[in-house]
Formats: sequence, C-alpha cells, structure tokens
Amino acid sequence: MRKGPAMGWLEGSSIVVTGGGSGVGRAVVERFVAEGARVVVLDRSAERLDELTTALGDSIRAVVGDVTRYADHERACACAEEAFGGLDTFVGNAGLWDFARSLTDTPADVLAAGFDELFAVDVKGYLLGAKAAVPLLRRSRGSIVFTLSNASFYPGPGGGPVYTAAKHAGLGLVRQLAYELAPDIRVNAVAPGPMATGLSGPKAMGLADTTIAREVPIDRIVIEQSALGVAVRAEDGVGPYVLLAARESATTTGTVIDISTTGIPRRHG
Ligand SMILES: NC(=O)c1ccc[n+]([C@@H]2O[C@H](COP(=O)([O-])OP(=O)(O)OC[C@H]3O[C@@H](n4cnc5c(N)ncnc54)[C@H](O)[C@@H]3O)[C@@H](O)[C@H]2O)c1
Repeated sequence: MRKGPAMGWLEGSSIVVTGGGSGVGRAVVERFVAEGARVVVLDRSAERLDELTTALGDSIRAVVGDVTRYADHERACACAEEAFGGLDTFVGNAGLWDFARSLTDTPADVLAAGFDELFAVDVKGYLLGAKAAVPLLRRSRGSIVFTLSNASFYPGPGGGPVYTAAKHAGLGLVRQLAYELAPDIRVNAVAPGPMATGLSGPKAMGLADTTIAREVPIDRIVIEQSALGVAVRAEDGVGPYVLLAARESATTTGTVIDISTTGIPRRHG
C-alpha cells in the first residue's frame, strides 16, 4: 500500500521496542526513526539486530536479550537513558504464535509446556517490560504501547486456545495498567490481523523453526476473507503506533486500535 511522508511526530523521542528485529516490530522501528525518534531494540536474535543496525545506524541501539527476563528489559531501558537521555515510550511487541493448535488435537504435556513458553513471551514479557520502563516513563510522562491481535477480541482460526487466551490477557494488561499508571503514563495497544512475517511458535510445541509466512497461505486467506481484499504487510500498520506514541494523543489511554482487516468479512457480489 502507498505510504505517506514522515511528519516528524516523534521528533526527539526515545523509545524501546521489543521484538524489533523482524515483522511488525521492525516496521514500527523504521517508521519511528523516520518520524524523528531514536529507538532501543530488544530482540533475542543478534543476527536480525545486526541487520537493523546496518540499515538504521546511529538512530538505534541494539540490545540482545530475552523479554521473559526482567534484567534484559532493565538493560534496554538503561540503554535508552544512557544513549538518548530518557524514555518516552515502551513498545511491548515480541510474541509467539501457537499456529492454531487445538485443545483436542494437542497432547496435554505439549499443551502445558507450550502454554508456559508462549505466555512467558506474550504476557509476562509485556508485564516485565512495563515494570522496567515505569520509572523512566513517569519522569517523561510517557506511554506504553502493546501489540495485541485480532485474537484479543475474537475466537476462530487466527489462533488456538493458548494464543487466543494470551492475547486476551494482553487486553487485560492494557486496561489494568492504564488504570494503575494514570495519570502519569498512558497505556494503549494496536491489534493487527494476520500477515506474513517471521512469527514463530513455542519450542515445546515443535514450532520454534516454523514461521507463519512459510506454513500458512496467509496472503490468500486474507485476500479472500477480509473486508479490504488485500494482503497485509507489517509496514501497512505502523500509523496507529506513531499516533499512540505521539504527544498529540495526550488524553488517549486504555484504548486498543483494531487494525485487523479480518474483523470485517469480505463482501462478495
Ligand atoms: N504476524 C501476524 O499474523 C500477527 C497478527 C496479529 C498479531 N501479531 C503480533 O505481532 C507481534 C510481532 O509478531 P511478528 O508477526 O512481527 O513476528 P516476528 O517473529 O516476525 O517478529 C517477532 C520478533 O520478536 C523476537 N522475539 C521472539 N521471542 C523473543 C523473546 N523471548 N525475547 C526477545 N525477542 C523475541 C523475534 O526474534 C522476532 O525478531 C506479536 O506480538 C504477534 O503476536 C502478529
């Protein structure tokens, strides 16, 4: 889809993005930088972070780490303070998918271990990131933005019970943290729908080396089933992240912008 020019909405902002090495996170990091922000990217893949540093240079700092570990979030936030003088926005985005593995077809031990692994990234990773970012965000009266999903609202083939429950939990986090952290820190989210990215799954479910782009004919499904009838790319959804992070959204908190095109079905005939 056609992109508009950058407007400098995040000029001078310092932002931490988790999972910024690929997919949604990478597209968001690129747009944040174009809008004038400087960004610390926390990702477990050193290789992806190297690529990003080569592409974006001094506007970013790369922190190799795991979002399930509080100390790694602390390192990312300390890096933002040291390199960019503080923190204006924390974006929790790194996630795993369960590839729609069902309750009935998944052995109980796999289900239990997959739950622990996926919730540790998609839910605990957001909680610990917020915890580490709060002291700096209070100072800047900044904001938190989480990446949720169509699975935060709707059941269906977009997830199995593990992923859908995790993304619903993310919605609970947005609402509870918006309440708890007010009036100093705004907390919002963006909920994308299906798209071809590097999204992988829990090792415990045998899905660590699988990606949504490889395993699922996602473009065809989205074209056939979604209102707009076009395949979605990660960069198509960056606008709401910019909007929610920007100071122009000073009274927006506890909100989720649902950008999933599959929420409205395709109109045939
Ligand atoms: N792709 C989709 O269809 C889709 C749809 C709706 C929502 N989402 C959500 O978008 C977010 C980003 O997913 P994506 O599609 O861009 O996937 P992606 O795999 O392309 O990007 C995720 C990044 O997170 C990193 N990561 C994963 N686990 C990590 C960990 N424990 N610690 C640090 N980094 C880790 C990966 O290395 C990767 O670079 C997720 O929260 C996902 O649930 C994706």
